[in-house]
Amino acid sequence: MTQDLTIPRPDDWHLHLRDGAMLEAVLPETARHFGRAIIMPNLVPPVVTSAQAAAYRDRILAALPDGMSFEPLMTLYLTEDTDPEDVAAAHASGLVKAVKLYPAGATTNSASGVTNFDNVRPVLEKMAEIGLPLCTHGEVTDHDIDIFDREAVFIDRVLDPIRRATPGLRVVMEHITTSNAADYVRSQDKDLGATITTHHLIINRNHILVGGIKPHYYCLPVAKREEHRLALRAAATSGDARFFLGTDSAPHTDSNKLSECGCAGCFTATNTMSLLAHVFEEEGALDKLAGFASENGPAFYRLPVSTQRLTLRKSETAVEFPAKIATADGPVTVFDPGFEVFWAVADD
Ligand code: DOR
Ligand code: ZN
Repeated sequence: MTQDLTIPRPDDWHLHLRDGAMLEAVLPETARHFGRAIIMPNLVPPVVTSAQAAAYRDRILAALPDGMSFEPLMTLYLTEDTDPEDVAAAHASGLVKAVKLYPAGATTNSASGVTNFDNVRPVLEKMAEIGLPLCTHGEVTDHDIDIFDREAVFIDRVLDPIRRATPGLRVVMEHITTSNAADYVRSQDKDLGATITTHHLIINRNHILVGGIKPHYYCLPVAKREEHRLALRAAATSGDARFFLGTDSAPHTDSNKLSECGCAGCFTATNTMSLLAHVFEEEGALDKLAGFASENGPAFYRLPVSTQRLTLRKSETAVEFPAKIATADGPVTVFDPGFEVFWAVADD
């Protein structure tokens, strides 16, 4: 007995592809299932200018294996020196679909991010004028704020003031991890959306810490209490179009994860669609998966829904995913949900 679920080909509205050998190894994992993805600009050095974004886009397309189709949607990394006119030109040419705000020091390669938000006001005002979305890594970096509170404090101290000061600015709160964020999104107008990762629908903070530390479950924002995971599941499966999929699939080699100071990031590109079908079925919401993974994101970004289709097939045998993806820099561990999964992406 099998069960099929066919949805428009999904998109990933928050993805790390990296560069070089890592890019070559991980790109097929996404392009196999996803038609488009918002590409994070936190390379070393970061993708700050439109010229850098164009060159990065070329490298992504050059790394795409023959026969695969995939459209990278490029972003610019916001710094205090970002030129509003360069941003406007990158948007007008169609190259850039969003600008990414990292509070300086918040996460991997965020050192060039923003410390004084007054210094990026002209860019934000230009973005509001032209309708270019701002993607936010929503965590404050103050040392006196507990890491588990950093998202909720960001909403009050940074996000809400920015949005009040910049009417019309379209914002995506990325990889939300708290009920506070889901509630804030619901309380606002359609200029605010939020992405939710696959792993934050599956793990809470106990999964990281109980019974021994699990570096492959460590990411930023870090997973929170169970009540927050349940709030994210409710938001993702609600059918509310302001919530959509952004995997934040973030590959690091095992040697960089399994270290005294391990990198943040869960690599979920390989099995995300199977895991989402599992989660949505558990929530009795398989009919909401197309909205979350394929329709709500394009609606926010004012792009067409894919005309291609993806079929998920449930069978009676558990699906085997590769434990690791080989790269020339060393293996990358694929996110292990810790339970059996029976949904696979069908080949036809
Ligand atoms: O877990 C994360 N990994 N969170 C981020 O914000 C960045 C990402 C990365 O680039 O590895
Ligand atoms: Zn990310």
